[in-house]
Amino acid sequence: MTVLEVIQKSAEFLARKDVDSPRLQTELLLAHLLKLPRMKLYLNFDRTLSDTELDAVRELVKRRGQREPLQHIVGSTSFCGLEMAVNRNVLVPRPETELLAEAGWDFLNSRGSSRHEEAQTQPAKIDQSLLTSAATALDFGTGSGCIAIALAVKCPGARVVALDASADALAMARQNAGRNGVSERLEFFHGDGFAALPSGFRFDLLISNPPYIPSAEIATLQTEVRDFDPHGALDGGPDGLDFYRLLAGRAGEWLRPGGKIMLEFGDGQAAAIRKFFAAPGWSVEAVRADYTQRDRILIARWH
Ligand SMILES: C[S@@+](CC[C@H](N)C(=O)[O-])C[C@H]1O[C@@H](n2cnc3c(N)ncnc32)[C@H](O)[C@@H]1O
Repeated sequence: MTVLEVIQKSAEFLARKDVDSPRLQTELLLAHLLKLPRMKLYLNFDRTLSDTELDAVRELVKRRGQREPLQHIVGSTSFCGLEMAVNRNVLVPRPETELLAEAGWDFLNSRGSSRHEEAQTQPAKIDQSLLTSAATALDFGTGSGCIAIALAVKCPGARVVALDASADALAMARQNAGRNGVSERLEFFHGDGFAALPSGFRFDLLISNPPYIPSAEIATLQTEVRDFDPHGALDGGPDGLDFYRLLAGRAGEWLRPGGKIMLEFGDGQAAAIRKFFAAPGWSVEAVRADYTQRDRILIARWH
């Protein structure tokens, strides 16, 4: 069978299994197997696959037909141009979360420069934190480590702390930090929310994509999400908003004055979350939309 025939047959099979974008998914699986960039497949349409290659592609396509996410099958995904290994212990990073990470590194970099200027122009105000770090960030619920790692890569002067309740997720995040060369500037903590952190830490930025699916809705999600993303990465409590209540109530204690919180949330949750951050100490600066123009990110400043 040629490359083109395999693509056609496999795409038909995946379409029958209700997999989204079956042709693209097939091409990505085949490109992974043949270790080629996807576009190079087009130059190899007439190439005949060996029996071993055919067996291997059948196995990959079968797994995708059982709705295992492509990223789990190939073992990694791209996030902000960085490669992140993923498995069943971590949420597969989503494209909209890249927008959150980008807002985070823009702020951290500007915060780093303004502190640097302050240190230069008002030496009397220099305190230990100005000398020891440009800016610090906490990634609350780091999963694969994607946000924390992107911040560390894009803000070379920053120190980044990441926490998660899942030890297995943290193992993957550590591996991803190493793979992206930022292990030195990342610290990982294991535990339930703020209880994971030593007291006394203060951050310029608290960034999080917390679990936000209402518990009862998890059973209705797409198979790839429901059966393959970890339950603990999805379940946001009865109304999906448990983590936003917690963060609006407690995050201020962990932020430096003028620090910010940046949170991803689910479609339709913006109004409720805005209300939590109408609390004293917070000013909501922006609610931003994702690529489909749905509000998905809240940015609030701590006084
Ligand atoms: C939606 S996932 C986000 C993962 C990653 N930051 C991303 O954006 O792809 C939420 C993460 O929060 C973690 N988590 C859930 N409950 C937690 C808790 N009480 N304390 C700390 N982390 C928690 C989960 O284990 C999961 O890794």
